[in-house]
Amino acid sequence: MRQLTVLPVGVSLPVGDGETILGAMVRSGFLYRFGCRRGGCGVCKVHLVAGEVRYERPVAAAVLSDAERAAGVCLSCRAVPLTDVVIELQEGDRLILASPLLRDAAKRAALRKSGDSATRPGPGEGARRPPGRPLGHQGGAAR
Ligand code: FES
Repeated sequence: MRQLTVLPVGVSLPVGDGETILGAMVRSGFLYRFGCRRGGCGVCKVHLVAGEVRYERPVAAAVLSDAERAAGVCLSCRAVPLTDVVIELQEGDRLILASPLLRDAAKRAALRKSGDSATRPGPGEGARRPPGRPLGHQGGAAR
């Protein structure tokens, strides 16, 4: 599993095999601007600061020119990271956390996939009950 770091906010997200940058952001509960999601409009452009990406489907030169590619611009809806990547959003753009639940679920799934044993919910995450006690038991005498 690869890591995607989004600047200037500094958010790090897991990226699944074959997943696009935009797909990883959405799966992790974040919203970023996009249009066609097919490499046809260029609305989703970001700057690739570090790492390598590939395009599994053709991208028209009218949408992403060779000069833009050389300058590190990529289409987040089509670019699939080959390595850990760092991107920077276009000036004035924002990454919006739309679903903290999806973000937390993506982090836990990434930890499980990496074999990390610390995947149990932390304080304030998920319901807890004392071991050996059934749900709903209050421990008082029946009236
Ligand atoms: S959303 Fe249209 S090119 Fe990415």
